[in-house]
Amino acid sequence: MIKLAILASGSGSNAEKIMAHFQGSTKAEIALIASNKVDAFVLERAKKFGVPTFTFSRKEMDAGVLLAKLQEEQIDWVILAGFLLKIPEALIRAFPNRMVNIHPALLPNYGGKGMYGHHVHEAVKTAGDTETGITIHLVNEHYDEGKIIFQAATPVTPEDTPDTIAQKVHALEHRYFPEVIESLVGTSTSSVTDVG
Ligand code: GRF
Repeated sequence: MIKLAILASGSGSNAEKIMAHFQGSTKAEIALIASNKVDAFVLERAKKFGVPTFTFSRKEMDAGVLLAKLQEEQIDWVILAGFLLKIPEALIRAFPNRMVNIHPALLPNYGGKGMYGHHVHEAVKTAGDTETGITIHLVNEHYDEGKIIFQAATPVTPEDTPDTIAQKVHALEHRYFPEVIESLVGTSTSSVTDVG
């Protein structure tokens, strides 16, 4: 069984889709949901699926507490799904090419410092872009610059607001993230073909 841990700081709608996707799989399981927020809704979602949870402070993470937990649970892959803290280098190094992030824009556009959540969709609106999308990428020491695994785009119309852009992006995330993870960790018989 391949063991996945999801790190999330907020609502966790992506985490929920991933848990639902792997429920009943004989090849991979979501073995842990870890959060830096004790009141993150993702922890409630985990309970619903009977997935163990773990919470930690930034200080604890920087001191290696999260890494120790992931090692203790023999986690193979780390999935970042709306995780807002900068990952310590030691943690990244412990999962070489085994850590995946989803970014709510078409990287390299709208990546880097300060580009998270609503800031991204507001920047897309302000720029007047005609499309946006999602990027699923490996995590390296330079936050949003790891190898791109998958991108999918959606049109942005003049009528769109940052909120409706966010909804479109979320829909893409929910549709693709679980299956891209499945393909990436090698538990799928068909590989994702529209990687680009
Ligand atoms: C997603 O848009 C993801 O791309 C970003 O944070 C958001 C998390 O949403 N990194 P949710 O908590 O999964 O609903």
